[in-house]
Amino acid sequence: MDVVPAPDVGRIWARLDALAAICEPGRPGWTRLALSPWDRKARGLVADWMIEAGLSVRTDAIGNVIGERRGAAPGIGWLVTGSHTDTVDGGGRFDGTAGVVAGLEAAHLLGALPVRHGVRVVVFVGEEPNRFGVSCLGSRAVTGRLEPLHLARAGPDGRSLAEALAESGADPERIPDCRWGAGEVAAFVELHVEQGVELERSADPIGVVTAITAVHRFAATFVGRPDHSGTTPMERRHDALAAAAEAIGAVERSARGGGGVATVGQIATEPGALNVIPASARIAGELRSVDPVWLANRRGALERAVRAAGTRRGVAATVQWLSEEAAVTTDPGVRSAIAAAAERLGLAARPLTSGAGHDAAHLAQVAPAGMVFVPSLGGRSHCPEEWTDPQALAEGVQVLTLALGQLDRTDPPPRPGAAPP
Ligand code: GLV
Ligand code: MN
Ligand code: MN
Repeated sequence: MDVVPAPDVGRIWARLDALAAICEPGRPGWTRLALSPWDRKARGLVADWMIEAGLSVRTDAIGNVIGERRGAAPGIGWLVTGSHTDTVDGGGRFDGTAGVVAGLEAAHLLGALPVRHGVRVVVFVGEEPNRFGVSCLGSRAVTGRLEPLHLARAGPDGRSLAEALAESGADPERIPDCRWGAGEVAAFVELHVEQGVELERSADPIGVVTAITAVHRFAATFVGRPDHSGTTPMERRHDALAAAAEAIGAVERSARGGGGVATVGQIATEPGALNVIPASARIAGELRSVDPVWLANRRGALERAVRAAGTRRGVAATVQWLSEEAAVTTDPGVRSAIAAAAERLGLAARPLTSGAGHDAAHLAQVAPAGMVFVPSLGGRSHCPEEWTDPQALAEGVQVLTLALGQLDRTDPPPRPGAAPP
């Protein structure tokens, strides 16, 4: 691409505002949970913008919205970009939406150029964790990684993910049809807000993601004995919640030395009365790291800590691993296209790993994939304070567009197992 792309910052910002206006009333921040009516509406709005941008638009069986413009050379695969519109409860305005709006803007800018590859912009369904404990629904579906065992998972009300998908307008029976063919994706590049402090700390406007963290999720259950809180002496108690509290402290301390992070994000206890010693408690959380040795060590330590807390309190304690997503590295060719794009624009780019999960982690397992990060104010994310400046986002869009332009000119080496396009 000879010209430096000039994104329309006003349009980008207006689109982010329009998406932010679609959120669940009465919840903090900007809440559009996966499969909720608000997220469906947001995906519908993006479909309208895709039509406006001259893309041909379809919605697949799980609800991914896919906008495409064919390229000049048929049969060489698509350059794919995009992200998600769903949020965590009480989330922010940029996680996911920034990559969707940036992808659309890049497609618009590339539309003025003679690109060889087709350009595909995608809004992936349900990237954030949901009540079924399965994240990245849409990117799993297109990469053939949404399995019947995921669809059968029950939420707290006993209904399955398949049922929830059907209620949201998706067609769970046809999910295998969502899968993209081998060689269909020439490259995938997702722009995302960093959600951390690294870029702000080093004052670099662009991050080139080298690896996306592994995420291992667990639940620990403690079963003690309900007794009267006023009459049972301290040494005769089997307090399930006190054991859970010890385990929470141990999990948190296990990651203090760096190398990864450990979080307990959920706790539930029964019977939940002020004057009854807790009979049972369930905690759930996750370990994240790009280092498999760190993860293996911390998993062992976590299991030992839970058992030890149970033994000390006379409480039965068990750990269940709910999901284990491995770390992925991004494609070196995509990384260098992003770095070259930043250099061309005179923007300092630094390599960094992502502690957040992304749709790109699934795409990276079937195609050359990478990510462009733009700074997050104060590193805040998954909260209403999440913020990225318009200019920073516009620079990210320029880098995304130039990187896709460069990937259009290079034929990535064939991936093992991929059929010729
Ligand atoms: C998604 O935002 C995740 O990292 O869980
Ligand atoms: Mn998120
Ligand atoms: Mn995200």
